[in-house]
Amino acid sequence: MTTAAADTKTMSIRNMLLPDLAATESFARRLAPLLRSGDIIALGGDLGAGKTAFSRALICTLNGADTEVPSPTFTLVQIYELPEFDLWHFDLYRLEAAQDALELDIEDAFATSVSLIEWPERLGPYLPTNRLDIRFSFADTATARCLQIQGGNDWVSRLESLNDG
Ligand SMILES: Nc1ncnc2c1ncn2[C@@H]1O[C@H](COP(=O)(O)OP(=O)(O)OP(=O)(O)O)[C@@H](O)[C@H]1O
Ligand SMILES: [Mg+2]
Repeated sequence: MTTAAADTKTMSIRNMLLPDLAATESFARRLAPLLRSGDIIALGGDLGAGKTAFSRALICTLNGADTEVPSPTFTLVQIYELPEFDLWHFDLYRLEAAQDALELDIEDAFATSVSLIEWPERLGPYLPTNRLDIRFSFADTATARCLQIQGGNDWVSRLESLNDG
């Protein structure tokens, strides 16, 4: 059945076990070239799970290894003017109310840029359904992380070209 509802349905794309930080960085490096403006990547997972580490590796891949990528914990957003598009890196942990995100011009970011969003659940109803979800969780060693990747149909086909590294 091809309906609008079916097109926005989220499905599991893949689960990955990342044994160490280098594996997380490698995954970010492989995802980076697939991104284009308008993409929204929701980075879920607890404090210290690896969302910023992943974002740093992704931004450095697109903008050069010496790019400074601070955690936007206090600024809530950090904007990078990359060669191909602007990338907005959000950390919404400290957002008090979902609608406060509108003051960050988050809807402009969604429309024109690539958005990496830590603590996406803080956005409540403002979190677009058309997004890629990457959820980090702790695994059985100090440096191991599990990733659950979910998205709609378009992401399923786009991530087919993501090699296993
Ligand atoms: N496999 C791994 N992937 C990512 N980070 C790892 C991994 N193994 C160890 N680490 C370490 O875990 C920490 C992850 O911290 P990071 O700031 O990225 O977490 P976060 O999810 O952004 O947390 P917060 O919710 O506080 O923003 C870093 O110190 C990183 O070096
Ligand atoms: Mg972080």
